[in-house]
Amino acid sequence: MADYKSIQLTNFEVDKKVLDIVNNCLSQQPDPRPFVEINSIGYVFYFHTLDIKLLQRNIEMLTAHDLFSANNPSSSRKAGELLQKIYEEVSKIGSYGIRSGKRQYVNFDIERKVRNRKAKEQNRSQYYYAQDNNFSKISNQLPPEMTNQIFCGDSLEVLKKIPDNSIDLIFTSPPYNFGLEYERQDDAHKWDLYFEKLFAIFDECIRVLKFGGRIAVNIQPLFSDYIPSHHLISNFFISRRMIWKGEILWEKNNYNLLCCNHG
Ligand SMILES: C[S@@+](CC[C@H](N)C(=O)[O-])C[C@H]1O[C@@H](n2cnc3c(N)ncnc32)[C@H](O)[C@@H]1O
Repeated sequence: MADYKSIQLTNFEVDKKVLDIVNNCLSQQPDPRPFVEINSIGYVFYFHTLDIKLLQRNIEMLTAHDLFSANNPSSSRKAGELLQKIYEEVSKIGSYGIRSGKRQYVNFDIERKVRNRKAKEQNRSQYYYAQDNNFSKISNQLPPEMTNQIFCGDSLEVLKKIPDNSIDLIFTSPPYNFGLEYERQDDAHKWDLYFEKLFAIFDECIRVLKFGGRIAVNIQPLFSDYIPSHHLISNFFISRRMIWKGEILWEKNNYNLLCCNHG
């Protein structure tokens, strides 16, 4: 027999007819099917996997059944109220898995659970590549004449005027080197020259960033040249002892390649 979780429901007058209606609804649920039993203090609900939408439909149907007889509720209505209570109780359970659209409450995490997580994290050394950095934790003030200003120019030159450790957040959308027509910059450099300049700018960004600050880079790889710019840039920052926090993928649905990524 499958493992079940159970929830004891008190404050309900026990009624065999209600029990039958509830169990009839629950029999429509996927296997292993939930069921309700009566014990000395009320109803006990046993469940493993639940189709929550089906449960909601059952509740709607049973409670709509006799909307106008609230003073003398029928067995259907009482069954609907019992199911509603079940629904509220299972909704409070935070950890559950979803398989085939059904919420699984029992054993869903058997394969995935990591035991001794903390010890293993310690053994692996979180941020191992960033641990022996020598970034200063002392922040500097940005001079008032530089605050809330827009500076136009080559970012490498502009950044050189900014003091060390004075910026909280850097967000940049550098050129992608796709060959776009920009007013002043050539956008089709040899890749090694492109990355040389980009990384020189990023070194300046790291210098001006405060300890604990963030750099966000908006970039697109050039599939036709097989250049994973996003990975190369992540790798650059990692090599500089910066902590890689994550990646957000922009699904634009405008693929311009007519082939798959292996050719
Ligand atoms: C991918 S676009 C980003 C555009 C920007 N998000 C915007 O909305 O204007 C790259 C921009 O970087 C500019 N650019 C290229 N080289 C630069 C440099 N050395 N210093 C400053 N900006 C540069 C280009 O002119 C272009 O406007």
